Amino acid sequence: MLVFVGQAAHALRSEHASEAGGERDAYADRAQRAKGVHVKRKNPYKGQDHFTAEAKKAGYPARSVFKLEEIDHRVRLLRQGQRVLDLGASPGSWSLYAAQRIGAKGHLLAMDLKPLEVALPPYAEFFIGDALSLETEALSKFSPYDVVLSDMAPNTTGNRLSDQTRSFDLFMRALDVAVALLKPGGAFVGKIFMGEDFTLAQAAVKRHFSKERTLRPEGVRANSYEVFLLGEDRRATSLPEKNAEAPR
Ligand SMILES: C[S@@+](CC[C@H](N)C(=O)[O-])C[C@H]1O[C@@H](n2cnc3c(N)ncnc32)[C@H](O)[C@@H]1O
Repeated sequence: MLVFVGQAAHALRSEHASEAGGERDAYADRAQRAKGVHVKRKNPYKGQDHFTAEAKKAGYPARSVFKLEEIDHRVRLLRQGQRVLDLGASPGSWSLYAAQRIGAKGHLLAMDLKPLEVALPPYAEFFIGDALSLETEALSKFSPYDVVLSDMAPNTTGNRLSDQTRSFDLFMRALDVAVALLKPGGAFVGKIFMGEDFTLAQAAVKRHFSKERTLRPEGVRANSYEVFLLGEDRRATSLPEKNAEAPR
């Protein structure tokens, strides 16, 4: 973690002098984040360029970091020493954020179809792969996990139904992996595009976790139909399918 804060500080220090005020703000924000303090801001996705620039200044490759940061602070997801799996990790903002939050006593395994655009600390590993075709075993290096994250999304085609279907397939695969590799009590966060199958996905989360909720972070663009389904407190024994709607 110190490596990153140090690198970020160096990068920030080396920026143009006229941005000195912004540098101090970004560095202070990032230092606060690493301590687990939520840096409150208005919807970071309004005024897109500014907030993409803000993420980059803080050392993250994409502003998607603001979504995970918000989820983390709303549900107290990430803690020092945890083991985390990050599916669909490229370009790397979530992995970097999660690595900072779990610290050097934790372990992170990240994967994506595409390479990362950031370096991860030594206690975090990344590999290129397809979550839909990999054996679950290939994702188990640091299992059992405390947290499984999936920000996986298909390349959108403009055909909403087809995009939703592919998002649903990615979500359900991530959930299967989470169910197989999480500790009892562990947590799952998965991105899904809202569509007809959404209630099926929700019911599946309820079977395996004692608490299910849907979050749409402020950072999601107004015209996006993505949401995040969360499962908290992985059940030691999953409910049978017919009881998916059983009271909690
Ligand atoms: C929104 S981006 C993730 C952004 C990332 N969380 C971050 O903060 O930098 C969605 C990612 O899902 C990945 N993805 C889509 N299908 C995948 C699959 N079958 N296996 C692994 N990754 C996949 C894409 O390559 C893309 O990088």
